Amino acid sequence: KNVAILISGSGSNMVTLAQSMRGDHPARPCVVLSNRPDAGGLAKAQALGIPTVVVDHKEFKGDRAAFDAAVIAALDPYAPDVVALAGFMRILTPEFITHYAGKMLNIHPSLLPKYKGLHTHQRAIEAGDAQAGCSVHEVTAELDGGPILAQERVDIAPDDTAETLAAKILPLEHKIYPETLRSFVSGAFAARD
Ligand code: GRF
Repeated sequence: KNVAILISGSGSNMVTLAQSMRGDHPARPCVVLSNRPDAGGLAKAQALGIPTVVVDHKEFKGDRAAFDAAVIAALDPYAPDVVALAGFMRILTPEFITHYAGKMLNIHPSLLPKYKGLHTHQRAIEAGDAQAGCSVHEVTAELDGGPILAQERVDIAPDDTAETLAAKILPLEHKIYPETLRSFVSGAFAARD
């Protein structure tokens, strides 16, 4: 199975996903695509020997449909069976999501359905929550709203900041995303659709 990984930044989740797809794993990373030419994850993907593509969203002047069409045109030559969003900070159009329906996953740094969108750790702290965490979910047209496939959680300490909480949760992302991707490509969730 071919897995395309979409990034916008450091790509730490991309690295752990790519490194998990070895040996008897049924999938391999086929391409890493970034919407930002300066994403640190591009060099990491190249160091891992994974083809990389940049589709710079700034070249599409807010025309989301045109940007998404360009991303599809860039990805489909690699014949992805799964599209894994990993720190990909663009909202995708319904047409894009339809094109990859049932094949797209995302890692989100909150205990969904709480805190969809941005600044998730800060919002959990400000709400006085006892715990925070991360979720792997299937991507649907509703932002951060698809079926939740896995979650990990941590206690929020009284002196936690968004930064210290992120530092506690990112390693958990690096744990559940590879685990969930392997289950997903192995068909473990097929019955749910
Ligand atoms: C992570 O917090 C992840 O949950 C969110 O983007 C952040 C950066 O991820 N989606 P990465 O280091 O670029 O994988």
